[in-house]
Amino acid sequence: MFSSNEIPSGLLKPSFEEKYRKMLGNEYGEFLSFLAKRTRKSIRINKMKGKKEDIIALLSEDGWNLKEIPWYSYGFWIEPQAEGIGNTIAHKLGLIYVQEAASMVPPVVLDPKPGEFILDLAAAPGSKTTQISEMMEWRGVIVANDVSPSRINALSSNVQRMGCINVVISRADGRRIYRMYGEIFDRVLLDAPCSSIGQVRRSWEALKRWNQNLVERISVLQKSLAIAAYKALKPGGLMVYSTCTFDPEENEFVVQSLVDKGAEIVKSKIPGMRTREGLVEWNGVKLDDSLAYTHRIYPHLNDTEGFYVALIRKVPV
Ligand SMILES: C[S@@+](CC[C@H](N)C(=O)[O-])C[C@H]1O[C@@H](n2cnc3c(N)ncnc32)[C@H](O)[C@@H]1O
Repeated sequence: MFSSNEIPSGLLKPSFEEKYRKMLGNEYGEFLSFLAKRTRKSIRINKMKGKKEDIIALLSEDGWNLKEIPWYSYGFWIEPQAEGIGNTIAHKLGLIYVQEAASMVPPVVLDPKPGEFILDLAAAPGSKTTQISEMMEWRGVIVANDVSPSRINALSSNVQRMGCINVVISRADGRRIYRMYGEIFDRVLLDAPCSSIGQVRRSWEALKRWNQNLVERISVLQKSLAIAAYKALKPGGLMVYSTCTFDPEENEFVVQSLVDKGAEIVKSKIPGMRTREGLVEWNGVKLDDSLAYTHRIYPHLNDTEGFYVALIRKVPV
């Protein structure tokens, strides 16, 4: 499917083209050309199971070359691109996790600390849960929640494989989580279900499915999940809202709904990564100026998949 460097004609709906052209302005052409390219393969090294140098040496012996990802010191691009890293002993032992480079960003922005109490509201299959667990050096507690039983299976097996002893798995509709736990979490990650245009480099499916009704439907769910995540924070606690898509209704508009409830958007830095500021206006709707502190990670900026990431503080009332 990725043999040419172009998206097959017919996959780009006129409504998509019109909206995304408006969103990206003169970057639209470059954006599209990166959507049509395969992503670079990357992994995360599990610092809790071995020294970084030893794991790199183990992979090098098997012919893999690793190049450090600037924004996460345990993240590496690997070459050759050949499939098969998932069949290595290093993978089976949980020394590494295959994870796309931009997907490592939300935990970096969340910046969890050992000993904290963390909620990962939509956690399956667990890329970010396991990364957060390693960043916490397996100390403290992560409640890793998801609504989907089949995806919870994948989450459990990844948590087990990576050895994350500080993860408790929960299956609940995230919209009800506040009622179950109350305002107790130091930090919350909401890596929300979305229309996934940022993953088009992996599969055309998201482009085939995309339409404005879908975006608006998902936005309603995202707003409810975001409010539940925000409520579950301790006063003063920090939350990351992320998606792997670019539609403003799924990103800035969701974060704006938290600002409307008194949330504060916090400035955040992503080391070594180029991002674009979040939108402060869309289709004539003016948003809070602080939305500019949020990050739009377009594929052409760092040769990654796409993400949107916002850091939010719960303002004590
Ligand atoms: C983008 S994926 C999460 C990926 C995950 N954070 C990771 O890094 O591996 C979104 C997840 O939201 C879950 N989800 C959808 N609706 C939900 C709901 N109402 N409550 C909780 N989880 C939900 C989906 O099952 C899916 O696993």
